[in-house]
Amino acid sequence: TNQTQRLRVSCNLAPEDQDRGDNTLINCCPPKLQKTIKPFVFPTENTVRMRWSAHKGTPEQMKKFKTAIQAMKDLPHDHPHSFASQAKIHCAYCNGAYTEVNSGFPDTRIEIHNSWLFFPFHRWYLYFFERILGKLINDPTFALPFWQWDETDGMQMPQMFVPENIDVNKNFLYDPFRDNKHLPPAIVDLDYADNDKPHNDQVQRNKCTMYRDLISNAGDPISFFGAIYEAGEEPIPDDKSIGSVETGCHNNVHRWVGDPNQPLHEDMGVFYSAARDPLFYAHHANIDRMWKLWKELRLPGHVDLTHPSWLNASYVFYDENEDLVMAMLMMLMLVVPYGQMARGYGQQVLVVFA
Ligand code: C2O
Repeated sequence: TNQTQRLRVSCNLAPEDQDRGDNTLINCCPPKLQKTIKPFVFPTENTVRMRWSAHKGTPEQMKKFKTAIQAMKDLPHDHPHSFASQAKIHCAYCNGAYTEVNSGFPDTRIEIHNSWLFFPFHRWYLYFFERILGKLINDPTFALPFWQWDETDGMQMPQMFVPENIDVNKNFLYDPFRDNKHLPPAIVDLDYADNDKPHNDQVQRNKCTMYRDLISNAGDPISFFGAIYEAGEEPIPDDKSIGSVETGCHNNVHRWVGDPNQPLHEDMGVFYSAARDPLFYAHHANIDRMWKLWKELRLPGHVDLTHPSWLNASYVFYDENEDLVMAMLMMLMLVVPYGQMARGYGQQVLVVFA
């Protein structure tokens, strides 16, 4: 029918690190690409998923999250819902595995960082990840934790990700490729520049960094979201094109968590492997929350973009039913903060933060 269309993105081997210009290629294409893509339809259920602050999670919330991640890790690797497949989605969209066949530029690679695609891509990515986890544990109210590094008590790596007094083989939220110096009680440095400069006033400095990323460097939509990036353009490597949050607290938390003894600071320190660390999703749930906080400041210029080429950009994901769906930014434009809620298309509640 004309409601569905054949998948016309093409997925290729991707360079491990585009910026370094070396030729190590990796395969991060999702499985079974020959399916039919359906247009995304907002769910009709009325369930509210309340995302929760990772350091304030109840034992029940933490147990559910752990069990759901475990269920994902227990799936065969080539299942579209497996943890490995989910992690590859990030690699595929971030390391240039896809080309823009759909928009008529079969030789142009897509990269969703360093531009205005950063926030909406990651919002969609978490949206499906969260629903898949909920389905795996049969809980339609399941919601992700967010690592609330912008709040004083949330500035350490959240305890549930830390292998303390536990068998690391049984902690499915653990990832061995992290910087051991940055386990609690270390306080995150939201302005981290690849070396530790111990500050007595780290908490205060982090608050200044938040002010910089959400206010002083974010006074208009392009400064906040990132530069214009349209079909047919080469990915923008230029740091000037990157949004305030992406280049600030976002990148710095990635680098602060990744293992400096790995060649590219895997896992969190480099795009291709970042989503292999379960902490990635809690970090990005907080990044998603930054979008809401920025708008709620209601300062002049704190409004969503309205360019048609932004609104019409789309991505392909496996949904919780293993269907391939085409999700468009257009729908995210309709997500407006409403009290504690972000309401989506047709007033469906899309994302809620506790
Ligand atoms: Cu797609 Cu935090 O990076």
